[in-house]
Amino acid sequence: MELKEIFDGVFLIGGQLCTKNLVTGRSYSEKIIPVDGSEYRVWNPEKSKPAAAIFRGVKNFPIKKGSKILYLGIAQGQTASYFSDIIGRDGIIYGVEFSSRAVSDLVRACEQRGNIVSILADARKPEDYSWVEKVDIVYEDVADPEQVAILLRNADAFLRKGGFAMIAIKSRSIDVTKDPKKIFQESVDAIKGKLEILDYVTLDPFEADHAFIICKSR
Ligand SMILES: C[S@@+](CC[C@H](N)C(=O)[O-])C[C@H]1O[C@@H](n2cnc3c(N)ncnc32)[C@H](O)[C@@H]1O
Repeated sequence: MELKEIFDGVFLIGGQLCTKNLVTGRSYSEKIIPVDGSEYRVWNPEKSKPAAAIFRGVKNFPIKKGSKILYLGIAQGQTASYFSDIIGRDGIIYGVEFSSRAVSDLVRACEQRGNIVSILADARKPEDYSWVEKVDIVYEDVADPEQVAILLRNADAFLRKGGFAMIAIKSRSIDVTKDPKKIFQESVDAIKGKLEILDYVTLDPFEADHAFIICKSR
C-alpha cells in the first residue's frame, strides 16, 4: 500500500491520515493499517481537531520527532496518542487536564507510551505547574470562554523562543449568541498582538463552529 509522508511522522495511506504506532498492539478503537511489518493508526478528522485541520489544508504542522509539547485539555489522551506517535521516544508531552476522571484514563496511556506526563491542574493557572520546562509547542483544546487568554498566558510562561502554538477554538464556548466567524476573527486579532499567525482554518464539516489556528513565537 502506498505511503506518503505529508508532515513529519504524518502519513496518507489510501486517502486516510495515519501515524506510525509507537506501541505495537496497543490502540484506542481506531483502524490499524499494517504496512511493511509496521502498524499505522488511522487519525480520524471527525474525532480529532488537529487531524481535521490537516484535512482542511493547514500548510504548517510543527510537531516533529523529539518535540516537547505542553498540551492543555488533554482529556483521556486520544489526540495526544497521535502526537506521541509523531514525537517518538525522544519527545515528551506534558498533558494538563482538570477532570480527575479523564486523568485516571490518561494515566494508562502514559504508562503504555512512556512519553506523556499527566498533570492534574487548571490550565488557567500555569503557576500551579511552573516546574514544566520550556517547550517547542503549546497546544490548547479547552472549552473555555477565556481560551485565547489561556493559550497566551501558557505560551508566555512555557513556549521557547521560535516555538509554535496551536489552538482549537470552539465559538459556542466563547459566546453562543455571536456569529462564529466574528469570534474567530477576534481570536486571530488577539493572538496576532503576541504571536505570528501561520495558519487559520475552520474545521467544518468535521467539527461545526470550530477554528484551528497555528502560530509562531517571534
Ligand atoms: C474538547 S476536550 C479535549 C479533547 C482532547 N484534546 C482530544 O482531542 O483528545 C476539552 C478538555 O479540556 C478540559 N478542560 C476544560 N477546561 C480546562 C482547564 N481550565 N484546565 C484543564 N483542563 C480543562 C476538559 O475537562 C476536557 O477534558
